Amino acid sequence: MRAAPDAGGELCIERVALSAIAERFGTPCYVYSKAAIVDAFGQYRAAFGEHAHLVLYAVKANSNLAILKLLAELGSGFDIVSGGELARVLAAGAAPSTIVFSGVGKSSGEMRQALAAGIHCFNVESEPELERLSRVATAAAATANVSLRVNPDVDARTHPYISTGLRQDKFGVPHEEALVLYRKARQLPGLRVTGIGCHIGSQLTDTSPFAAALERVLSLADQLTAEGFQLEHLDLGGGLGIRYQAEERPPAIGEYVRTLVAGLGARRMRLMVEPGRSIAGNAGVLLTRVEYVKTTAERCFVIVDAAMNDLVRPALYDAWHDVRPVRVEPRRASRLCQVVGPVCESGDFLGRDRMLGVEAGDLLAVMSAGAYGMSMSSNYNSRPRAAEVMVDGERVHLVRSRETIADLFAREAFMAR
Ligand code: LLP
Repeated sequence: MRAAPDAGGELCIERVALSAIAERFGTPCYVYSKAAIVDAFGQYRAAFGEHAHLVLYAVKANSNLAILKLLAELGSGFDIVSGGELARVLAAGAAPSTIVFSGVGKSSGEMRQALAAGIHCFNVESEPELERLSRVATAAAATANVSLRVNPDVDARTHPYISTGLRQDKFGVPHEEALVLYRKARQLPGLRVTGIGCHIGSQLTDTSPFAAALERVLSLADQLTAEGFQLEHLDLGGGLGIRYQAEERPPAIGEYVRTLVAGLGARRMRLMVEPGRSIAGNAGVLLTRVEYVKTTAERCFVIVDAAMNDLVRPALYDAWHDVRPVRVEPRRASRLCQVVGPVCESGDFLGRDRMLGVEAGDLLAVMSAGAYGMSMSSNYNSRPRAAEVMVDGERVHLVRSRETIADLFAREAFMAR
């Protein structure tokens, strides 16, 4: 990840010291590197080369407007899963023709909103959803471009909460039922079949499940083509993993894309992918300050000012994020520490069993926190959400100000007497 110590041993994002950011904006604070996002997106584009493609950034990974605008300017499209995400990408300047709407539970209102915006395609995940979309489009005198999300029944070999391509998962249309549903889609008014979609899970560290899913989707695509469907695109979802721990060796973006392009063979469909984590994940850190070091007979707790409400991944998935001191003090002895937040739950940890030499007042950086960090944050324990900062070379932009205490209950009311 793109945070490295400078000559004085101080951790920096691009050319800005994290301590300067903490001083100016306070902690906890998410800090992103613009160059890291530009670089990851560029790797996708370069790997596709001349092959017709559209990279759809998965907005759920990090939906800050500054990130969405940056990606829109780079030519990214967007994978959205709610009316809220649609409004965000439009506010950030996305072209409607680059927006694809995924998710198992689209409401009629969300469908109307997306049709009015003129989005590129709906990834439909069930028969009742297909029927609803047909009714909503017909009532609006519109045509919805449709691709079915097929569940290929492939084991993504990732955490069960983020595995989505097995037949027991709630996602997609079972592979063997997809053909029948495609025939139905062709008959229903207000719909135009344009492609096939699939997404098998997140944080995959091996290309073989992607290749297996592609093979299954292609066998269906070939059957559909034989029946006269004109498939324009194949949307292979997101899921490429990043390196959180030194021993993890996820495929490089280029290798992943080349696997997909090669798997397509001579077919001419446009390839779409929906990467989230591999674009934003290693572009961000969560900057936090040590409040106390509490030593018990059993353990040493490093109590920091960030918590599970700011970054829930460790509590929710037992996810591992590197925790690094912003300034390494070589003369301090390291000891085994539990890095925990102030929230009243034993699950509120950011790092367990870490060797650290830290004292109260020190700054720590929780690494690889650019994806599914801020976007999954909450106000649990009535904690205002963190600030977000984007670094561009030596420039620093506050891209979301810290929530205030007043924000916390601004929408609440007492009961009428
Ligand atoms: N497309 C669809 C339809 C998805 O459901 C997802 C992620 C993506 C694309 C983007 O996947 P990515 O490239 O980021 O792996 N909160 C979890 C991850 C949940 C992923 C949900 N879907 C985490 O923090 O690990």
